[in-house]
Amino acid sequence: RAVAILKEFEEKCGTPIGKLKQVADAMDVEMHAGLASEGGSKLKMLISYVDNLPTGDEKGLFYALDLGGTNFRVLRVQLGGKEKGVAHPEFNEVSIPPHLMTGSSEALFDFIAAALAKFVDSEPEGFHPPPGRQRELGFTFSFPVRQTSIASGTLIKWTKGFSIEDAVGEDVVRELTKSMEKIGLDMRVAALVNDTIGTLAGGRFHNPDVIAAVILGTGTNAAYVERAQAIPKWHGPLPKSGEMVINMEWGNFRSSHLPLTEYDQALDAESLNPGEQIFEKIISGMYLGEIVRRVLLKMAEEAEFFGDTVPPKLKIPFILRTPDMSAMHHDASSDLKVVGNKLRDILEVSNTSLKTRKIVVQVCDIVSTRGARLSAAGILGILKKIGRDTVKVGEKQKSVIALDGGLFEHYAEFRSCLESTMKELLGNEAAETIVIEHSNDGSGIGAALLAASHSQYLGVEE
Ligand code: BG6
Ligand code: GLC
Repeated sequence: RAVAILKEFEEKCGTPIGKLKQVADAMDVEMHAGLASEGGSKLKMLISYVDNLPTGDEKGLFYALDLGGTNFRVLRVQLGGKEKGVAHPEFNEVSIPPHLMTGSSEALFDFIAAALAKFVDSEPEGFHPPPGRQRELGFTFSFPVRQTSIASGTLIKWTKGFSIEDAVGEDVVRELTKSMEKIGLDMRVAALVNDTIGTLAGGRFHNPDVIAAVILGTGTNAAYVERAQAIPKWHGPLPKSGEMVINMEWGNFRSSHLPLTEYDQALDAESLNPGEQIFEKIISGMYLGEIVRRVLLKMAEEAEFFGDTVPPKLKIPFILRTPDMSAMHHDASSDLKVVGNKLRDILEVSNTSLKTRKIVVQVCDIVSTRGARLSAAGILGILKKIGRDTVKVGEKQKSVIALDGGLFEHYAEFRSCLESTMKELLGNEAAETIVIEHSNDGSGIGAALLAASHSQYLGVEE
């Protein structure tokens, strides 16, 4: 019976190449619609106000804040232009206490400001801005924001594990500035960016061929460089570069072509944000382990998968985290010892048979394969939109996509499936010029670089 449930699940999660192409086409269509008008699509296609990406000439001491991934981070970097590059990156990482993720806006921003103040206080000699100058900060805020300038923007909604009612609709830079003022921390936010935008900027600094960035972590999203003329909803002045970086918020993509199952529907209905972030809920790190748990629960309830009682722990939402799922999926031992240990430690079921463990691995494989293949389809959608999905004979121009996030970084099976699916979708020729590159922590450095290029002291001699 458990095998029957497994087979049915596998069938419903199927992502044959034809379906992936339909998903890519739908992504392309929605991208056009989202660029045409505000509210024109599930894809918000947010204007980032970044119309110039780093050149490598950025100089000076800058700070960055990174909020919205697994950890909250504060960074300081010394930018030394082309010759010296990025020096002395120093960072501090803390996890956000869970009660702050669903509390009040003031409590969250007070916590962030305090962490920033502590970081500044512990600064070594020589790491101070020149006399009379304010410290400047790039703020990576990884949620959908309607920007009103490069350094201001209102929160549209929360995603992932956050839900703080009174922050929605507020300018997040004002909220942070208020909290900094309260404790006498004199700092100016010079750039407010999404993590995809930071990753794109950081990626471009190292490689001029970077044209898009994708985050596969707790959440998932993508940003890319668009022609300003291809953005009908932009009524501002045409940027000199002729380009504008767009934060797609692709996590909210949905399409009738997505292979959704009863487990996804139940997960969505019981989530903090029902009906939203459907693409994210079948791809990203916050949810993959939870989907696996739901499938195992059904097997336990309907097929006595773990014996004649249902393990009580298995009923607890989010108890099976994606890193645990990944550890089980990568178990190379002949008796699947890691799987056995995880089932024992997390779900408190002991003495599982090899057959049971094998089925658990298969569930992990189905869920991770679907997520990885759909991410590849999403990337193909972007390439189509900007006309880079096919390669002319003799074409040398590379299109590099900068990737980051814990899922991409640590879940090897996910990553290799994403990479092989890209090849499958693009064909051998295009796969040579279209490159996926890991941009390790590009987003913090990217935010600092963007703070530098929007500094209030630009052109002022040191
Ligand atoms: C990091 C980026 O490496 O990945 C962050 O620097 C980003 O800006 C994060 O938010 C996402 O990954 P995760 O797994 O921490 O959600
Ligand atoms: C969520 C957020 C988005 C972010 C992504 C990755 O989808 O809405 O802004 O880029 O997670 O962190």
